[in-house]
Amino acid sequence: MTLHTEFFDIHPKDHFWVDIYHLMNSIVQPRPIAWISSISETGTFNLAPFSYFNICSMNPAIISNSIFFNRDGSEKDTLKNIKATGQYVVGTVSYHAAEKANLSSAPYKSDINEFDEAKVEPILRNPGEPAFISESPVQLVCELNQTIPLGQGAGVGTLVLGNVKHIHLSTRLKSIEWQKGISPERMNNVGRMGADFYAKTSDVFELPRATVNKEL
Ligand SMILES: Cc1cc2nc3c(=O)[nH]c(=O)nc-3n(C[C@H](O)[C@H](O)[C@H](O)COP(=O)(O)O)c2cc1C
Repeated sequence: MTLHTEFFDIHPKDHFWVDIYHLMNSIVQPRPIAWISSISETGTFNLAPFSYFNICSMNPAIISNSIFFNRDGSEKDTLKNIKATGQYVVGTVSYHAAEKANLSSAPYKSDINEFDEAKVEPILRNPGEPAFISESPVQLVCELNQTIPLGQGAGVGTLVLGNVKHIHLSTRLKSIEWQKGISPERMNNVGRMGADFYAKTSDVFELPRATVNKEL
């Protein structure tokens, strides 16, 4: 076991944000990936992966995503769509879908449907609603709670909080007792690491939750 007793100090504000971005991405990892399906006001489907993603409340169920401005300072289509329509769907990214999720991250113009570009079959819902993602066993149907702008421009995030209104599980998961959660093997999610690295979740270990032994 290596113990770390001495440290050197980096002040983010003294450095180019892209250097801090690379460093932070390699520190805060593995990150879960939200594959976000949204729809524009004019009906164009949009699909893109987002790894600044987490749960922030369970009762009610609320999730968070941070969506950065593009490097040219413009707003990403996903954020535009969520603000305009107030709705989006989050799919999970399993190992077999990682390459397609990555393909859907390319900086396509707003009128391009990334489902087509990444060869992901959209599962159509009601008119005006974002599609389900056929590669994802779980679809979280979200309603915008609020956006929290953290500033403006390249490298700045907007925090998006979404109320999870419905959790759609693939019927392929029908045999499971979902109240006890889905096993990591069934989900087979990938995690986002620093640089272009991803992590598989096939090498997991179990650690029962620590308790306080009152008899000692
Ligand atoms: C695995 C992965 C995770 C990503 N996570 C984020 C993220 O959390 N926030 C973000 O702003 N961009 C993230 N991106 C980049 C977006 O996917 C990319 O900018 C995409 O083109 C946005 O699409 P849109 O303009 O259609 O919304 C990620 C890319 C990949 C490949």
